[in-house]
Amino acid sequence: MKSYTVSELLSQKVAPNTEVEIKGWVRTFRANRFIALNDGSTLNNIQCVVDFENFDEALLKRITTGAAVHIKGDLVESQGKGQTVEVQAKFVDVLGDSDPETYPIQPKKHSFEFLRENAHLRTRTSTFSAVMRLRSALSFAIHKYFNENGFYYMHAPIITGSDAEGAGEMFRVTNLDAKNAPLNEAGEVDYSKDFFGKETNLTVSGQLEAETYAMSLGKVYTFGPTFRAENSNTSRHLAEFWMIEPEVAFMDLPGNMDLAEDFMKSVIKYILDNNKEDLEFLDNRLQEEDKKKPQAERSEMTLIEKLKFVTDNNFKRVSYTEAIDILRNSKPNKKKKFKYIIDEWGADLQSEHERYLVEKHFNCPVILFDYPANIKAFYMRLNDDGKTVRAMDILFPGIGEIVGGAQREERLDVLKEKMAAIGIPEEDLWWYLDLRKFGTAVHSGFGLGFERLVMFATGMSNIRDVIPFPRTPQNAEF
Ligand code: 4AD
Ligand code: MG
Repeated sequence: MKSYTVSELLSQKVAPNTEVEIKGWVRTFRANRFIALNDGSTLNNIQCVVDFENFDEALLKRITTGAAVHIKGDLVESQGKGQTVEVQAKFVDVLGDSDPETYPIQPKKHSFEFLRENAHLRTRTSTFSAVMRLRSALSFAIHKYFNENGFYYMHAPIITGSDAEGAGEMFRVTNLDAKNAPLNEAGEVDYSKDFFGKETNLTVSGQLEAETYAMSLGKVYTFGPTFRAENSNTSRHLAEFWMIEPEVAFMDLPGNMDLAEDFMKSVIKYILDNNKEDLEFLDNRLQEEDKKKPQAERSEMTLIEKLKFVTDNNFKRVSYTEAIDILRNSKPNKKKKFKYIIDEWGADLQSEHERYLVEKHFNCPVILFDYPANIKAFYMRLNDDGKTVRAMDILFPGIGEIVGGAQREERLDVLKEKMAAIGIPEEDLWWYLDLRKFGTAVHSGFGLGFERLVMFATGMSNIRDVIPFPRTPQNAEF
């Protein structure tokens, strides 16, 4: 007798009247007869019919929500409604009991807050299993895209001595004794005595190292965890998140935009083609949620419509300067509805402004480019105007910034000047400067926040619900 997953049994590839074996967790047990069994392979449950006359009463009592069971029986065409096939059970063994009094995941609606506290069990619900299957599919689609387009996958280090974004929001890595750290003559902690002989941190971005590989292997990308010690308790920030960072030699900013747009469309198309069931489930869930809201707050498009909208329409490319003009003349700015009023060129854009541009003004994904140099990172290429840099941010409806990237400063003298201006010592980035000394060339790349992509793709509104075990200020449970 062969063992199958629920997905295989429901796929209609197994002929009816085949003897099958299956293991999974009980979602519900109805009328002492119908087990809805789920093994995570698909959103759907398989119904297993237990003829209670043929089974011991003590065994039947142990078939409870959450129990792990092993079932053997015949796959048959279903007698009832709601499923095409079911398993007529001949053998049932409870592998692991689940006390119905204390099992947290009851067969009813739980709040996302409650499920976050039970993140170790929340993937036993339909919503979270769908989200995490989609997360897995998106991750595969990303590797597939780069693989098919001639990129090499590069593993950037997680422990690093450099602050790629220059924002100073890093988690220190040390094995010095906090109570008894060695001090130097100035009375400061002496990191030369630390494990690496210098100050080290968890990386905020693999970009600088990826640049070294782009300038040798041509087209590369990283896909790994990144860490930021910013105290932002928002629905879009994590202290530990995953980032995808392609980096390409001889590519300029328009090329970077083309790559980012094609890439985003391709991975979204992948899930539309391959993860219909989970997407339809989440789409229906959102429509149900929407019905509870007042008309004005309901979304104009369903989840699947939103995804198709991205794959079928061009991203709007707008310079920072044009965006500032639009914002300055916008209603919420004039009526002082924005928290941060835009009055002059040079202002940093807040998420309220980004969302106004994508959701109200353009109503489609937007690529903003050529930002003022002083609100962007040191490594971005200075334009001839001397005040803007070849930066680009991609803004998505409902999300805001999802991608940040740039054409890199490839001129040694200009880069050195910029580093000096913000106080980055040349010794710290001697290897990064070497790239500009030996065979320098135009090159560009960007970073996609993976969780923000998963939020967009699943319609989940809190970033804590699209990563298995979220790390946020004051929270590192599990
Ligand atoms: O815009 P960021 O900071 O860009 C970089 O790190 C560049 N080095 C990328 C590059 O050019 N290779 O971050 C890139 C993206 C953001 O657009 C956002 O989607 C995501 O990473 N991100 C976060 N996601 C979750 N939580 C946070 N705290 C995030 N910070 C950035
Ligand atoms: Mg950014």
